[in-house]
Amino acid sequence: MNISRRSIKVISMMALPLLFSTACIKKEEVEVIKTAEVTATAPAKKALSQDEIVIGAVFPMTGAIATYGQESVNGIKMALEVINKSGDLAKKIRLIVEDNKGEPVDSSNAVRKLINIDNVHAIIGSVASSNTLAGAPIAQQNKVPMLTPASTNAKVTMTGDYISRTCFTDDFQGVVMAKFAHETLKKSKALIIVDNSSDYSKGLAKVFSTEFTKLGGTLLGTTDEFTYTQKDTDFRSLLRKVKRQNPDVIFLPGYYTEVGLMLKQAKQLGMSVPFLGGDGWDSPKLQELAGPEAIKGNYISSHFSPDDQDPTVKSFVDAYTESFKQKPGAMAALGYDGMLVLADALKRAGELNHRNIRDAIAKTAGFKGVTGSITIDAARNATKSAVVLETTPAGMAFKQKVAP
Ligand code: PHE
Repeated sequence: MNISRRSIKVISMMALPLLFSTACIKKEEVEVIKTAEVTATAPAKKALSQDEIVIGAVFPMTGAIATYGQESVNGIKMALEVINKSGDLAKKIRLIVEDNKGEPVDSSNAVRKLINIDNVHAIIGSVASSNTLAGAPIAQQNKVPMLTPASTNAKVTMTGDYISRTCFTDDFQGVVMAKFAHETLKKSKALIIVDNSSDYSKGLAKVFSTEFTKLGGTLLGTTDEFTYTQKDTDFRSLLRKVKRQNPDVIFLPGYYTEVGLMLKQAKQLGMSVPFLGGDGWDSPKLQELAGPEAIKGNYISSHFSPDDQDPTVKSFVDAYTESFKQKPGAMAALGYDGMLVLADALKRAGELNHRNIRDAIAKTAGFKGVTGSITIDAARNATKSAVVLETTPAGMAFKQKVAP
């Protein structure tokens, strides 16, 4: 029997002795196995505290995507109140928040610090997929469970078996928006503007483009033709180039700071074509950045609508608004759900070690959250509904709910 390199990679270490006895293994394959053995004999871990549960949180508290972190931590703190009040967990949770400033380098440093210095039981975070993708390999190498409430890029959970998420992926979100563009808005000529510094933007652009063309729509240009990077502030020459193509809809899978400015500048250039986006637009700052004129008539996919009349959602929205004097956005709801799911796993984990916590997260099924029912599948993703929201000067208005 001859085993390909690819099949070896996915075989667990426990299966390796068996493999050795039956297989003819080439040199390059042996190297792969050696790496696995090195990890197996990595230095023993420090025991985790059994008096309290230490949770590390990696979020952008400052910088261009700061509302994601602020809303997340608000949601997490609300969840911790619920958990502590319920008395369901015998031990108290201590939360350590690290500000990654929305940057990949700070994200990996934060994860390293939480593991090496704080000896955390688990990590919650982060938001921007490129940030989570920078931190996740460190959590995986150290076998510390990391749960992201919000990173939707497909690659995130492929990092390894210690990395999971409680949100849907861009494979779903991108299809939702392509269908909305083609079937609901009846648009046929789409153009995609991509944030080249974001794995999220690039991934979501690909999914949208594939689905939109599959539905019979035309894509003007390619997904790497109309691009910008985070921290850009002047999008006028890009927008002039876009305008000349005469699209009837523009897909802009970006984050709110650049998106807000771009919407405003597009309006100033006399563009009236609708812009569509994903969850990255979902910020209480978007309206302010775009201004009341430019914000109108655009649509996004997201995780939850604050207008949802479901009783679980309603009581969350009321409590959040009361505490923080602002309606919750998607990140507030996702942070809240993520923390509750993690606490639920901690409750079921038995003796608190990283492996047990990971296994308990993986067994999450039918957890009723504010953002929907959460079941972690074999690929450590959650299959959940999305909502389509219209951006209005007063906030996000509910349009439709799309089941997976
Ligand atoms: N899904 C985005 C990403 O992966 C992050 C995000 C989630 C932003 C929810 C806002 C709201 O990069």
